[in-house]
Formats: sequence, C-alpha cells, structure tokens
Amino acid sequence: MNVQCVPIGRKSSRLPYTPRMKVELPEHHSTLYSSFPASRLGRSALEASLREQQIAALLNVNRWSCASEMCGPELVFGTESRQSRFQTEGFVMDAKIVLLPGDGIGPEIVTQGKRVLESIAARYGHTFSMPEHPIGGNAIDDFGDPLPQPTIDSCKDSDAILLGAVGGPKWDDPAAKTRPEVGLLKIRQELGLFANLRPINTFDELVDASPLRREIVAGTDILFFRELTGGIYFGDSGRRPHESGEEAYNEMVYSTGEVERIVRLAAAAAKDRRGKLTSVDKANVLEVSRLWRQVAERVVREEFPEIEYEVVLVDAMAMHLISRPKDFDVVVTGNMFGDILTDAASMLPGSLGLLPSASLGSDGPGLYEPIHGSAPDIAGRNIANPLATFLASAMLLRHSLNLSEEADAIETAVAAALQSGHRTKDIAAGGTSVSTTEMGDLVLQQLT
Ligand code: IPM
Ligand code: MN
Repeated sequence: MNVQCVPIGRKSSRLPYTPRMKVELPEHHSTLYSSFPASRLGRSALEASLREQQIAALLNVNRWSCASEMCGPELVFGTESRQSRFQTEGFVMDAKIVLLPGDGIGPEIVTQGKRVLESIAARYGHTFSMPEHPIGGNAIDDFGDPLPQPTIDSCKDSDAILLGAVGGPKWDDPAAKTRPEVGLLKIRQELGLFANLRPINTFDELVDASPLRREIVAGTDILFFRELTGGIYFGDSGRRPHESGEEAYNEMVYSTGEVERIVRLAAAAAKDRRGKLTSVDKANVLEVSRLWRQVAERVVREEFPEIEYEVVLVDAMAMHLISRPKDFDVVVTGNMFGDILTDAASMLPGSLGLLPSASLGSDGPGLYEPIHGSAPDIAGRNIANPLATFLASAMLLRHSLNLSEEADAIETAVAAALQSGHRTKDIAAGGTSVSTTEMGDLVLQQLT
C-alpha cells in the first residue's frame, strides 16, 4: 500500500504530524480504510466525502477526512523511522481551536468548554491554542458587524471552531440594520459548512425529564443531517411594493449538487449505523422538494443500494418524531425543515442542554456548537447547562482532530457526572441543582 502524506500545514513541535496534508491516493484505495477508528460518522461517510472530491487525483484532504482515517495510529506516514517515533511517542497534536463565545449564556458555557479542552490537552500531551473572537450581538455592539473580518480570518486559519450561541432581545428590532444571526449564517457560508450533524441520543438517567413517556423515547438514537448553506435561508430575498402596502419574499433553491453531497454523507453515515435513511421533504407541494426527492433517490439507489431508504413528508415527520422516534436512524433534510425538526427532536432526550452539533464542509475546519440558543433569560446567572458544549467539544476532537480516545473520555465523563446524580437546573426537575461552574468541576474531576 503506497500512501504518501506530505505535511503542508502547521507543524507539531513533537511529531512530524500536521492535520493538513496532501495525500496521494493510489487507484485502489480500499485498504487505506482498513484501520478505521470507531467514529460516529464512520468509514463510508469518509469514503463518500473523498469520492465526492474525486480521490483519483491528488487532493487536499480536509481535516475531517484526514482526521477520520489517515491520522490514526496505524497511519502509513513517511519513513520507517518516523513511524516508530510515532509509535513510541504516541499521538500528540498542535491544534488551533477558535472559540466564539457569542451572546447570552455563550460565554459561560464556552469558558467551561475551554477548561475541558485544556484538561484533555494536559492529560494527553496536546497543545491547543484557543484564541477567542467576537460573533453575533456583542460583535454588532463593538464593531457594528455580527461577523468581523478578523473573526473570519482566524476561523479560516484554524483546525476547528467551538461556538457558544448568538442572539438576544437586545438585537431583535426588525428594523435593525443587521442581526446577530447574520453572523452565524455568514460563518457557515464562508467556511462552506454544508452538513449540519445533530445527533439526538437519550441518556437513560434523564429519560424521565423528557416531556414524552419513557417507553416512547428510551433508546432513541437519531442522527440528523441538516443541509446548512442552501435552501430558503440563503435564497434571494427582499421586499417590494404591493397594493396592500408591501410584500416580502424568500426564495427556496436547491441544486442537484447541493442535494447530492448532503445525501451522500447521510447515506454513508446510515450505512455505518443501523442502515436506515429517511429523507424528509415537501414534494407534494414544492418543486424544490421534487428535485430533492429525485436526486436523493438516485444517489441512494446508485451508491448505497444496501441501505433501507424511505421518504417522509415534513408535516408527517413532525408527527412521527414525537410518536415513534425510535424508528429513525439517519434523517436527511433541507435547511429550514432541518432547523425546525431538530428543535422538535431536541425535546426527546429531556433537555436542549444536552445536545451538540457539528457543521462540516468538504474542506477546512468544522464548527461545533451546542444546539440550544443563547438563553438570554438565564445569562450571567451561572445556571446554564454546559454539558452540550462538552459534548460538542467531544465531536470537535473526534471529527476535526481525529482524537477519538479523547472524545470518548469527555463523553464518558459527562455520562459519569450524570450518573452520579448531579444536575443543572434545566434537568433537575425542581430538585437540587449545581451551577454551570460546578458541573464543569464535576466533569473535570472525571477527566483527571
Ligand atoms: C440554528 C439556529 C440558527 C439557524 C439561527 C440562529 C440563524 O436556529 O442553528 O438552528 O436557524 O440555523
Ligand atoms: Mn434553529
């Protein structure tokens, strides 16, 4: 097997490793994947992402692809001596993780996320530089721009990004020149983060905090793929005169290529999970959805014939998610449907405070965030739940830096903190609760 990895990016002082590299792939590349480390996303997702980038040629493998596969301990990397050095010294990494605390509870939870990442770095010998940059409402206040250029530049130059949340009533004036949310939409677009992964898993200890009955939700394990850089959130929009005053419009557009790439990733993830993919659309009404459905069906039929595939209309899906969530494995859908359905699904495990998400592109850094919002009503009170941010940090380590063991360590620590009975206010069901910082301490204790 002849794989040559040529470092072209930031170098670790400890190892001849860098997350960004050129990889020359031989024509028959299948054995490259034989040592795939366990990951939620899985091996065929990686293959799909590589296929998408036409692996026959020389390519810049993104950190995610590289991360998932080629940088594992069995990596064929350079010369024999390098390999042995690799083995004796272990796998240490210099990485730049940009922190975007944002608004509301964002700064409190990102501070806790940073502590957890620092403790992981110390325990495993990595060096993480973690510069902070403004985004959202605070950036509007200080710079008149929800996404200042230095924030964009630093993110583009990073290995991964950890975001808190943006927005709040202070910036809600509909007549305002700009809005915090514009910062978030723009960073997704600037970094080409077209795939938003939102895992919905239940923690057994918390199932009784769900508004739904235990027998309906226990065991739910869904991975949503929400398309994130297209559709109605990015279509042409505006206002124009109308006989009754004005009218406003937002256009929903999807191209074949946009549907193909997200469906391909979702189908690949399904193949590595329980083998079932559900595509959600509104093809009985929308032309966009009819194209979506045609393209999705073709991608699955041609490239993933072994998976079980179904299409569900979005209104029906809203119902099925609540009545039979355990029937779903991987769900793929467009930007707006995914936005709405994942908020609904987030109630299944009992609290929004537990759910992380990853936004990934075909190249460059991924962006990781808790899916709850900025919760301005509880901001600054040290009561927010930092667990979703910890789980987002775990996804960051796994998907952008290939640090699966470290990611597992965080997930195990979170589960242990919950098992020991500690709860932040949102999941305490009226009982005793711990603060944001105390929950941070508890998880850190598990990590050291
Ligand atoms: C989300 C949020 C954002 C979205 C907003 C803040 C722009 O609701 O990440 O789901 O709608 O995408
Ligand atoms: Mn949303």
